[in-house]
Amino acid sequence: MTDATRRIAETLIREHALPKQDYARLIRERDDELAKLLAEHARRARERYYGSDVFTRGLIEISNFCKNDCLYCGIRRSNRDCVRYRLTEEEIAACAREGYALGFRTFVLQGGEDGYYTDERLCSIVARLKREHPDCAVTLSMGERERDSYQRLFDAGADRYLLRHETADRAHYGRLHPPEMSFDHRMACLKNLREIGYQVGCGFMVGSPFQTPETLAEDLRFIETFRPDMCGIGPFVPHHGTPFKDMPAGTAELTCFLLSVIRLIHPPVLLPATTALGTIHPRGRELGLLAGANVVMPNLSPVAVRKQYELYDNKLCTGEESAQCRDCLDARVRSVGCRLVTARGDIRFQEKQSL
Ligand code: 5AD
Ligand code: FES
Repeated sequence: MTDATRRIAETLIREHALPKQDYARLIRERDDELAKLLAEHARRARERYYGSDVFTRGLIEISNFCKNDCLYCGIRRSNRDCVRYRLTEEEIAACAREGYALGFRTFVLQGGEDGYYTDERLCSIVARLKREHPDCAVTLSMGERERDSYQRLFDAGADRYLLRHETADRAHYGRLHPPEMSFDHRMACLKNLREIGYQVGCGFMVGSPFQTPETLAEDLRFIETFRPDMCGIGPFVPHHGTPFKDMPAGTAELTCFLLSVIRLIHPPVLLPATTALGTIHPRGRELGLLAGANVVMPNLSPVAVRKQYELYDNKLCTGEESAQCRDCLDARVRSVGCRLVTARGDIRFQEKQSL
């Protein structure tokens, strides 16, 4: 760590904000010592809001049909080898029942942008989950929709919405997506979700093609101003059916570094240690928690379809029963001094009094 990077880190810890060029410099000049310093402060910041609690979300992958063609994604529409499926309302309700019995109090419905899930169908599913599990939160991760659609889903009971912004750099966005996809529309969706009253999650991949310290600095500036309730940061993992085959060296370390930076920018944020991080490093999720993450999102999808929801290669837990995942995660979380709790896990804006 140089004097310059130490000074920048101290400013971040104190002010929760930095000029863009300082974020880029921290990223470009980072070393183990700097990462350790930021991780220690990030853990402390997390503890002030959440103690040692780690929240868990049951992920139900409801469909891998997708009308989009994002260049990095394994379920992109032009991947003809992808075997498509979608779950029925009955199947989704059964996953949630199983999850509830295992202690999950948030269900995340995630899917490609699948025209089958009209507002009517999706509202019926959301309302059913809320009726059957009134003490649970329902999170949607179903991509870009129009504002009135988001409003109807919210009125049906949806509590939270995850929509990664993917990159806050317009030119970078253009290189990762086909021309019919719009950076402005994606950002407008996030704004609409926020205005409607959802708890909102944004996020981006680490090591995505054409990413630079400058595009990452733009992501961090966006997080500073948008102040999301949740932020999904995971490594880009290549999928064999897409044009991008390479993952830069050091992606797991950079992901953890950025988790710490994001925790310090916005201390109360809900920050998952992603399954993708666990995929590229055997202790990836544990390292993510040590860097300041406080959420894990195991898979509750029926085992029969897990392999088909393949955004990237070598995804974890595709053969495991949900109960096995829960136990495995519980042990992993305990191994880093945290505890997996049964709670909805809403964002906390108040620091704990006792600390
Ligand atoms: N590697 C890692 N994450 C990916 N996603 C899509 N494709 C990949 C990949 N190859 C992420 C995107 C999307 C989220 C659901 O999954 O960021 O928003
Ligand atoms: Fe699924 Fe470990 S988290 S088996």
